[in-house]
Amino acid sequence: MSIPDPFDDAMDRAVPRAARSPSSHNSQPWGLVWARSPAAREGLAALLGGPVEPSSHYLVLALDRERELRALPSLAVEMTLSCGIYLDSILAELALAGFRAAPRWFATAPGADHPSLAGIPDLWAPLALVELGPAEPRPRDGRRSEGRTTNRGPYRSDAVPEAVLLALARASTPLDSPAGSAGVRVHLVADRERIRQTGEFVREHAHLDFAHGEAWRETYRFIRFGASAIREAQDGMPITQLLGPLSAPGRRAYQLALWPPAMAFLSRVGYARRIVRPFGELVAGSGLLLALSTDRDEPSVRELLAAGGVAIDLWERASAAGLALHPVSVVLQHPEVRLRFQELLGTAGRTVFFARAGYPTVSFPPAPKRRDPWAAVARL
Ligand SMILES: Cc1cc2nc3c(=O)[nH]c(=O)nc-3n(C[C@H](O)[C@H](O)[C@H](O)COP(=O)(O)O)c2cc1C
Repeated sequence: MSIPDPFDDAMDRAVPRAARSPSSHNSQPWGLVWARSPAAREGLAALLGGPVEPSSHYLVLALDRERELRALPSLAVEMTLSCGIYLDSILAELALAGFRAAPRWFATAPGADHPSLAGIPDLWAPLALVELGPAEPRPRDGRRSEGRTTNRGPYRSDAVPEAVLLALARASTPLDSPAGSAGVRVHLVADRERIRQTGEFVREHAHLDFAHGEAWRETYRFIRFGASAIREAQDGMPITQLLGPLSAPGRRAYQLALWPPAMAFLSRVGYARRIVRPFGELVAGSGLLLALSTDRDEPSVRELLAAGGVAIDLWERASAAGLALHPVSVVLQHPEVRLRFQELLGTAGRTVFFARAGYPTVSFPPAPKRRDPWAAVARL
């Protein structure tokens, strides 16, 4: 009989949980290298700049370039942030089992030069190396919601109680610890008039999702329309997840109207502006708006991974308090629009995540995820 290894057990819980992480377009653009064999561990010495610690475990987070969104330069931010969400979910579960994370190396940019790592899939670009050593098991304050989803329905506009706002403002990640702050800031907008103005801003700009040809072609590839495509999907967004329940003819009608060549024409005649109007109203009618910013306008990989960690902590805290969340990234994706949006929000540095939040009036089923959560993990 073999003795159960506590780290293996913790990874058995962490990997399936992290596989349910949110990501831009549900692209799930992450890969995780679990360096177990002596050769794989020794291969990390070049990244570490020294020998591996015999009692430590090592994980390398990577961006999976096969799954990467790249139609706009700003999507690089969403990709790294999504990878940070995944890493944070792994680290949160490991912390519960008594393994504390210490970041040891970060890429200067995804795909930037780094010492080679033997055995890692070709299209994985390493982003960070984390060392895990034994520590007191530590639950993260407020962070155990299993029910988190993206909810794109209307929310009640009820004010969010002060105690919940305080809990949200404390969202954090081990990658943004006081000892090595990555400068991620949480902004909460609860003032009704400011929420209304922000809804106006979104209504004015949300058509950009459809109007940018290349970005819309990429997004369209991630939308699942047919019943069987929706049933079998392991990533991407079912149209019913975006718009709520639809009949088969309704799904087909959207498949045609949203088809990129049709959309290119319809956008020119004002259709895109018309269909996004309710979207601005959804934002204006929310009880709360949330944003994350980094101190620097050009954040490093470390700062963006930390922002991802704070984002998922914020999301799970919100979910645990009965709040639903819906990220609204279009206002961050085009530089001039983003700068004006930052002015409206009054955030310094760079806003890297923005969402509306509130008490939901309808529930959404969970989004499709890879059936084999270990497909994102290379055990070397
Ligand atoms: C960085 C980031 C940006 C996102 N931006 C948007 C967005 O602009 N609009 C939207 O409807 N959903 C957005 N989402 C939500 C994802 O589409 C959602 O997480 C994904 O479809 C999986 O669904 P789930 O969150 O229910 O698991 C974003 C998520 C992340 C992590």
